[in-house]
Amino acid sequence: MSTPLAQRSQAELEKLQEELSAAYKGLTAAQGGNQLKLDLSRGKPGAEQLDLSNGLEEALGGDFFSADGTDTRNYGGIRGISEARELGAQLMGVPANEIIAGGNSSLTMMHLVLRTAMDIGLWGDQRRWSNCPTAKILTPVPGYDRHFALAEHFGLEMVNVPMNDDGPDMQAALELVANDDNIKGIWCVPKYANPTGCTYSDAVVDAIAALPQHAKADDFVVMWDNAYAVHDLDEHGEQLKSIRDAAITKDTQAHIVQFASTSKITHAGSGVAFIAGADNVLANLEKHMAVFTIGPDKVNQLRHARFLQGRLKEHMAAHAAIIRPKFDLVLKSFEQELGSFDIATWTKPKGGYFVSLDLQPGLAKEVVAMAKAVGLTLTPAGATFPGDHDPEDRNMRIAPTFGSLDEINAAMDILTLCIKLASVRKLVSDQT
Ligand SMILES: Cc1ncc(COP(=O)(O)O)c(C=O)c1O
Repeated sequence: MSTPLAQRSQAELEKLQEELSAAYKGLTAAQGGNQLKLDLSRGKPGAEQLDLSNGLEEALGGDFFSADGTDTRNYGGIRGISEARELGAQLMGVPANEIIAGGNSSLTMMHLVLRTAMDIGLWGDQRRWSNCPTAKILTPVPGYDRHFALAEHFGLEMVNVPMNDDGPDMQAALELVANDDNIKGIWCVPKYANPTGCTYSDAVVDAIAALPQHAKADDFVVMWDNAYAVHDLDEHGEQLKSIRDAAITKDTQAHIVQFASTSKITHAGSGVAFIAGADNVLANLEKHMAVFTIGPDKVNQLRHARFLQGRLKEHMAAHAAIIRPKFDLVLKSFEQELGSFDIATWTKPKGGYFVSLDLQPGLAKEVVAMAKAVGLTLTPAGATFPGDHDPEDRNMRIAPTFGSLDEINAAMDILTLCIKLASVRKLVSDQT
């Protein structure tokens, strides 16, 4: 057990800095001009995971008719076939008649909801976010960069709310929404959040369901992106309270829109995405959708429903068996290499796709650049905050799913070396 860096003498730190610098220089030299190409930035399933769903191709066996007799090869059925909505119901824990099953991306669905909320209205009345010159949305941070990109795309100002271990800081969120009618919504990744991996507690789910009641804006929307609803790393997984049940108690169902997809269940690029919401909201979304499509890819929906029918749990367990050792490797490496130095903290998620790492303030950009210089690509520092601006420059998102165990091992050696070197350098320079 070594001494935490902050308790070491200047002489000890300088010696360690020399050793680590030599190891870092050695990395470049060892490559002999052949730049490594390692990557911990991609929150994508690896090839072995994708292979789990190759059976999709045979799932139809030439039978394109859904249970109600719909010929899925033809146009129509804007809300999706009933089998696909049943699958969505299973993922999201809501009745199938409260679901639209769409194309391959839940981000497209989120775009649809924001576009409708902005310009068309989600409730068939006069309420439109664009009536307000400076519409804003709450962004729990660290959070998902594509949520920030969507908000930016629609000109929504982002208001950061800190993420705790049990979800967003609800006291801060409540105060903000109660006092500012420009705040129109909140982004949520309620289970195995991107990137912290936390699952919202029951109290947080209740408080979020109540937000529309307390909001000064009468057109407040909870964007409930449950992308990792069934993505447990172990058999039991964490339990997320149903936002639908909570919203029924508070009478706020019309202000909660849920999203999910099969992107990280089957094939990330060719899955099925879902929206769940109140009748009135779905009806208004449907009207808007009907302008740009005559219906979703129902053949793909049917393939998915048949392929996953009665075996979703077992299928997700097969994913977990592939990715759990990768998460274990990342966590073991942090523990072994950084634990006793006391220079970083990291999350230990029970599911999802990411580990969130906090360094000493001011070091994230430097570490990402140092790793890049020796062939390791990491998620850009700041990406977990709106405008790519991490005010403390300390958060990093680690995505262990895509690479092989050998690649992750090599990547972690580099990452932990860069973190140690950057941290010791900072301490040395702080003390001189
Ligand atoms: C929280 C979250 N939502 C949505 C997505 C993307 O979903 P889809 O592929 O359904 O567009 C991701 C992908 O990383 C994600 O992490």
